[in-house]
Order: sequence, then structure tokens, then C-alpha cells
Amino acid sequence: MIYALLIAVLAPHCWAIPLAQVDLHLGSSRSLETIELNPYPDKPRLTFRHDGTFKVTVFSDLHYGENPWDDWGPQQDVNSANLMNTVLTSEQPDYVVLNGDLITGENTFRENSTTLIDEVVAPLNKLKIPFSSTHGNHDNEPNITHAEEIRRELRVAPLSYTRAAPAWADGQGYGPGTYWVPVYKKASDHSPSLILWFFDSRGGFSEGANSTSLPDWVDEAVATWIELTVSQMNAAWGPADRVGRGSLAFVHIPPHVVQDLQANLNSTQDPGLNDDELGSGSTQASGEDTSLGKDAPFWDALNAHVLNLHGVISGHDHGNEWCKREPSKNVIFCFDKHSGYGGYSSTGWGHGVRNIVFRSPNPKVGPETWIRMEDGETHARIIMDSSYN
Ligand SMILES: *[C@@H]1O[C@H](CO)[C@@H](O)[C@H](O)[C@H]1NC(C)=O
Ligand SMILES: *[C@@H]1O[C@H](CO)[C@@H](O)[C@H](O)[C@H]1NC(C)=O
Ligand SMILES: *[C@@H]1O[C@H](CO)[C@@H](O)[C@H](O)[C@H]1NC(C)=O
Ligand SMILES: *[C@@H]1O[C@H](CO)[C@@H](O)[C@H](O)[C@H]1NC(C)=O
Repeated sequence: MIYALLIAVLAPHCWAIPLAQVDLHLGSSRSLETIELNPYPDKPRLTFRHDGTFKVTVFSDLHYGENPWDDWGPQQDVNSANLMNTVLTSEQPDYVVLNGDLITGENTFRENSTTLIDEVVAPLNKLKIPFSSTHGNHDNEPNITHAEEIRRELRVAPLSYTRAAPAWADGQGYGPGTYWVPVYKKASDHSPSLILWFFDSRGGFSEGANSTSLPDWVDEAVATWIELTVSQMNAAWGPADRVGRGSLAFVHIPPHVVQDLQANLNSTQDPGLNDDELGSGSTQASGEDTSLGKDAPFWDALNAHVLNLHGVISGHDHGNEWCKREPSKNVIFCFDKHSGYGGYSSTGWGHGVRNIVFRSPNPKVGPETWIRMEDGETHARIIMDSSYN
């Protein structure tokens, strides 16, 4: 009740708010937490272009900072920076996502590990392209953490939209990179037409002398954060299905359910490289019932509460590029393209990006997505809409 009044006061010009909408069943004081619905008051609003399109380019698994003790390592970072400059100059995206494993943290030194972030973001700073990051298992190591990378990125990249989750949803401190970014049809709009969601799947190793491996799935507290956030968005802006608000989600380690998709890929319908056999460690950890991952609370909440979800995009498995519809939630999943010259690779995989082009702010019009290689070759194009397998 108090919560409903609070929202009504904060958003007096909005829809009348039925009490049922804020009855969260959260079973805790979390339902009283306020989610900031204008999270970037000091940054330019992200908007669709005048022709109604919005283009996202995803760099994944850049793996900066490998083998700083020999010539090979630093050369890979030069190659990755060249790839970023080439792709950004020709693609001219409206937004860039760095989808995890920005840095090979196990090769870094305590005293200067996050200075690698300066190198990663340099092409984005130079070309003034707004972007944000998810973080991967290699970004949590004894000499670096997701939180440290986020702090550094915000200090050195004026157009970073990366944020940190509230402390109760930060995965015990190892998964702070959970947040959302609004995209408006035009800058003066009251509410966004598209929400880009970013989730922290943790993983890697803890800091300190006695480092232990960290949970490699999105923490279950994030399920509560999703429910709370969507409920407040709905109260302020109207429900996504009624007002026409779309969503797209990014998480470094693929959801556990993706593991079962690989056996039934059809290379015509689900095009793209399929060279990395998924197994233990390839997706978010399995639970006791292995058909359900430990990410089940997150996965269920995402699919239950975020309506008009165009898809979920992950990196982590460098030899996979394919998309496939996940039947249990009826949601499209896509792998990124391995972008970095660091990180494991194999003959013929090459390096590139995934492009995602929204063709309209209307969520009924699904985005088009494809892989673009460094040399400009493109393949594995699909439309992420209801006609997709
Ligand atoms: C962390 O950094 C310290 C100090 O530079 C270095 O001695 C150590 O080898 C690094 N540890 C790891 C696990 O890379
Ligand atoms: C960090 O320091 C180490 C050890 O002095 C050096 O080899 C490495 O190149 C430095 N890395 C960065 C990113 O400055
Ligand atoms: C790490 O483990 C060693 C051996 O068990 C122990 O002596 C030491 O105190 C531990 N260090 C920390 C920082 O916990
Ligand atoms: C694969 O997809 C194509 C195109 O939709 C279809 O014609 C073909 O029958 C599918 N193959 C299998 C084995 O399902």
C-alpha cells in the first residue's frame, strides 16, 4: 500500500495504478525497494534513428592482457584493437555491447590489471560510441574482479552505460554487473520503447591467496530484482505488452537450457558455426536435477516477467555462433561471435562480431541479426520474430 502510494506520488501523470500490479509476492521487504527509472540523468538518451532503426554491435570474449611476459600476448591485443577499429568504422553502430571476458584476468598483475580496460574502451572513446559491458569468468580472478572492471570503465569511458546492481542482487559481490539500459523512440518520450538487459553470470576465481572457484550462474536474488524492476516499470510506464516495449538480454555464460539445444540444430534454420561441444562449464552450472540449471530462478523470472523479449545473447563458447529457439520458454537464444585474438580458438573460426538491427521501435517487428567477420564477410542471418523456427 505504502509502495503504491509512493509510485503514485512519483509518477502522478501516469496511468492509474491497480494495486494488483504492485502485489509482488516477494515475501520480504524487497517490495519496498525503489528502482531508479531514469538511471542516466547525466548521459545522452539512447534513441532510435529517424528511420526507426537501432543497431547494436556485440564484441565478445576480447580477452585482453594475455601473456604480458612475451611478444605474442601484447600482439593479440593490437590485433583485437585493429578488429574493433575496423568493425566500428564500417558498421557505425548506435550501441556496442562488450559481452564478457574483456580481460584474461589470470594473466594480470594486481598493481595494474584494470589498466587493460583503458585499452579495451579506447576505440569506443575515440569514435564516441555509447556502450556497456557484461563480465565473464575470466574477469573474476585473484588480481581482478567484475566490480573493479566496472569502476575503471566508468572512470575512463564517458559513454559507458554499465551500472552495478544493488548490493542484495550482486551475487555475493562477485556478480555486480546486472542492470538495464533504456532506448527511446525519441529523446523527449516519457517512456522507453526498448530495454537492453544485462546479467552477471559470475564464474572465475575469488581474490586472495586462497582463491576458490566462484559460482558460475546468475544468482537467484536476481530473480527478485527482475520481478521488482519489471513491476515498477509497468507501474510507471504501463505493461510492456500493452504499451509496446521490447526487450533484449545479454549474459556472458549461456543459460543452462541451451545445452540441450545443440543436439537438434538444423544448420538451415539455425545457421552459424557449431564447433564447440557444450558440456560441463560451457553453460551456467547444472543443478541437482541436471535438466534444470542453477540459473533456473533467474531464467524463470526473466521469461515470466520480461515480456516482448526478442532474445538472449551469450558468448563464452568461442566456437559457436548459432541461434536457436528454446522451446520450453519459447525464446530465441543466440551465441555471439568470438571477437578477441586472445582466448582459445581453432583453425577456421576467425574473429568477428554479432550485429543486431532493430528495424522499428515496435516490438512486434523482430530485429535482424547476423555474424560479421573482421574482413567484412557476413553470414548466419536470421530475423528474431515469431516466424523463426
Ligand atoms: C597477481 O599479481 C601479483 C603482483 O603483481 C603477482 O605476483 C601474482 O603472480 C599475480 N597472481 C596471479 C594469480 O596471477
Ligand atoms: C603490468 O605490469 C607488468 C609487470 O610489471 C607488466 O609486465 C605488464 O605489461 C603491465 N601491464 C599493463 C597492462 O600495464
Ligand atoms: C590460506 O591457506 C593457508 C593454508 O591453509 C593458511 O595458512 C592461510 O592462513 C590462508 N590465507 C588466507 C589469507 O586465508
Ligand atoms: C531443416 O530446416 C529446413 C528449412 O526449414 C527444412 O526444410 C528441413 O526439413 C529441416 N531439416 C530437418 C532435419 O528437420
